[in-house]
Amino acid sequence: MASLKKIISENVEGSFFVDSTCIDCDACRKIAPSSFVRGKGYSYVLKQPTSVREKMEAKQALISCPVGSIGMQEKESLVEAMESFPIDLGHDIYLNGFNHKSSYGADSYFIKSDLGNFMVDAPRFNKTLVKKMHEMGGLKFIFLTHKDDVADAKNYAREFGAKRIIHEDELSAQPDAEIVISGSGDTLIDDFIIMHTPGHTRGHMVLIWKEQYLFSGDHFAYSDIRGDWSCFKNVCWYNWEEQIESVERLARFPKITNVYPGHGRRNSVTPGEFPAIIQRVVAWMKT
Ligand code: SF4
Ligand SMILES: [Fe+2]
Repeated sequence: MASLKKIISENVEGSFFVDSTCIDCDACRKIAPSSFVRGKGYSYVLKQPTSVREKMEAKQALISCPVGSIGMQEKESLVEAMESFPIDLGHDIYLNGFNHKSSYGADSYFIKSDLGNFMVDAPRFNKTLVKKMHEMGGLKFIFLTHKDDVADAKNYAREFGAKRIIHEDELSAQPDAEIVISGSGDTLIDDFIIMHTPGHTRGHMVLIWKEQYLFSGDHFAYSDIRGDWSCFKNVCWYNWEEQIESVERLARFPKITNVYPGHGRRNSVTPGEFPAIIQRVVAWMKT
C-alpha cells in the first residue's frame, strides 16, 4: 500500500500520489497518461484526474500498479474500476491489468476467439478478474511469450483448465506447462501463428492472430521515448544479433495493424506499412 511518508516530491497536490517504492514499470503511464508521467526512474502525478474518464483511468492505474506505489488520499470506492478489467481494446482484445511484480509490471492480454479464449502472458490472480473471465467464456490457452512474464499463469491454468503454451527453452519458468514448443519453426493453431523470436531471451515467442494482431512480449514495441517502433538493447538478456534477425523475420507478416507488447507501448500501424517499419527498426538496431 502506498505511503504518504514516502511520497515523491514531484506529485502535484491532490488525492492521487506515487511513493518512492515505484519501480518505473510504465503501467500507470500507459493506462492513465493524462495523470501519470515519467520522472527520473519513477512515475509521479503531474495532473490530478478531474473528468469521470480520467478518474476511472487513475483508479485503473492504481489497481494495475504491481508494487502498490499509487495511493489515493480521498476515500473512494475502487469496485467499479476493478470490474472494468479486462479493458476492451477493440478487435476482441482486452487488457488484463492487475500487473504482476514478478513480470516487472508487464501487460497481459485476453483474446476472445471462436476457437476458445487465449490469454497472452499473465497478470496477478485476482478474484474479480477471474469472475469476469468466466463471464467472458473462460480460457482455453495461455500463451507465454517468455520466461519473465509468466506471473500467475499456473493459477489461471488451474482455474480454467487452460493449456499453457511455452517454448522449450523457457520451460524452467513453467516446468509443468501443457504445450511445449520446440525448435524454430512456426506453429499454427487455427488462425493463430506462434513464431519463435530469440533475442530478448533464447526461447522468446510472439503470437500473431488473424495475420493482423501481433502480441510481441518483450521482443518489439512502440517507444514513446524514441517516438518510433523499437527494441530494448539494455534488457536484451540473450543475444542482440539474434534479436535483430528475429525482428527482421516479422516482415513476413505485412498485414499487421496492431502491436500488443508486454513492456513498451501498444500502437497501431497503417495497413501495409509494417514491412517498412521493420526495415527502419532493423537498420536502427544495427547502428
Ligand atoms: S505502475 Fe506503479 S510501479 Fe509502475 S510506474 Fe506506475 S507507480 Fe511505478
Ligand atoms: Fe522480459
